[in-house]
Amino acid sequence: MTLEIPTDLPPTPPDSTHSDTEDKLEAQPESLTLLPAIPSSSPPTNVLEPDKKTPDSWLPRDPRLIRLTGVHPFNVEAPLTDLFAQGFLTSPELFYVRNHGYVPQVHDADMLDWEFSVEGMVEHPFTLKLRDLLAEYEQRTFPITLVCAGNRRKEQNVVRKTKGFSWGAAGVSTALFTGVMMADLLERAKPRRGGRYVCMEGADELPNGCYGTNVKLKHALDREKGMMIAHAMNGEVLRPDHGKPLRAVIPGQIGGRSVKWLKKLIVTPEPSDNWYHIWDNRVLPTMVSPEESANKPAWWQDERYAIYDLSTNSAIADPAHEQTITSDGSIESYAVRGYAYGGGGRRVTRVEITLNKGRTWQLAEIDYAEDRYREASPQSLCGGTLDMEGYEPSFCWCFWKIDLPISDLSAANDIIVRAMDDSMNIQPRDMYWSVLGMMNNPWYRVAIHMDG
Ligand code: MTE
Repeated sequence: MTLEIPTDLPPTPPDSTHSDTEDKLEAQPESLTLLPAIPSSSPPTNVLEPDKKTPDSWLPRDPRLIRLTGVHPFNVEAPLTDLFAQGFLTSPELFYVRNHGYVPQVHDADMLDWEFSVEGMVEHPFTLKLRDLLAEYEQRTFPITLVCAGNRRKEQNVVRKTKGFSWGAAGVSTALFTGVMMADLLERAKPRRGGRYVCMEGADELPNGCYGTNVKLKHALDREKGMMIAHAMNGEVLRPDHGKPLRAVIPGQIGGRSVKWLKKLIVTPEPSDNWYHIWDNRVLPTMVSPEESANKPAWWQDERYAIYDLSTNSAIADPAHEQTITSDGSIESYAVRGYAYGGGGRRVTRVEITLNKGRTWQLAEIDYAEDRYREASPQSLCGGTLDMEGYEPSFCWCFWKIDLPISDLSAANDIIVRAMDDSMNIQPRDMYWSVLGMMNNPWYRVAIHMDG
């Protein structure tokens, strides 16, 4: 197979007057139109009022995003209904954002000179510019779902306040990411014996140093794990909030491992000692209270409590919370719909719904849009090669649907969903509360409101 090595970056996002989806579909060969549509994208052009007095005052953002931590830093999710309406792929402006601090500003003119290094326990440490990454390495495109470990944390905060802010169920989004496999870079550097972790560091300087964390070296070298260093999403240069110009994308693991504004990959014998690796992204035992955890670093330094693979999860997007379903006789059934995802590349194998709090369950139909990429013949997509033949793992969310008779809905109080993956990991009935409120995945419930 011959590869088209791009010598330049993918196009910058079109301006807001440019209509996109139809153009993109028109421009695609016929076989590509079977793939999920890339949603319409119109980069915001206005700096929003709240951002004007923050270090991000140069950065236009979409006003539909819901701010979860006041004005700054920018931590947002789209309304779940809007996110779901976009379909399998999320447009960059509605993709959830989790920033620990300010967004490093990188001008278009300087992007290709962005430099990052591969160092630590390697035979051949090197630094590379983005222009060389584009010219010298095979560019690949994968659909990948990112999920914040705090997705659905609001439910934990309602039960007992955690140290984290309240995400709803839209701390999850999917895009076509284009870049190079992390394994290609590590193989060039040749990790030395004894190296077990790949630490990553971003360019954002925060009160406790730069943002950094690690993945396991043996996973990073395994192409089946899909770990990549990406410079584009949905065929556009990464948006500033999503790591422009370069980020790690770690499929199947919590979003916190996908370091943005990437400056360093460091092979080490020990896990990262970065402050954010130690004091964030953990599920401590449930009896540890916020007060106690603050005074006991030993809880945090125990690598057993660090979280990597996502937990199996699902949510109901339609009906939305507080939505009223009509029961005036005009419809006989209602299509209840939502999403589900597994962790660590595990595929969701069933999604079940109950209208009687778990006494009986019904199976929902699942649409695995990711399989359309898997089954597509190798082709150029968004500036990289799409070739997922032989890739076993599941990197993406799936959508499910079940038609329920209006009479059944009228007789019930709530709709509850749970998913199971191919290792039989099933969402639990009960919540596992923990001090950071992460990985919340008990059965998801929406109360039923009928008019009439
Ligand atoms: N990388 C840097 N440099 N700084 C950050 O604050 N946040 C992490 C991760 N990478 C973060 C980062 C967290 S916690 C998540 S969930 C994802 O980025 C979110 O990626 P997104 O904002 O593109 O959705």
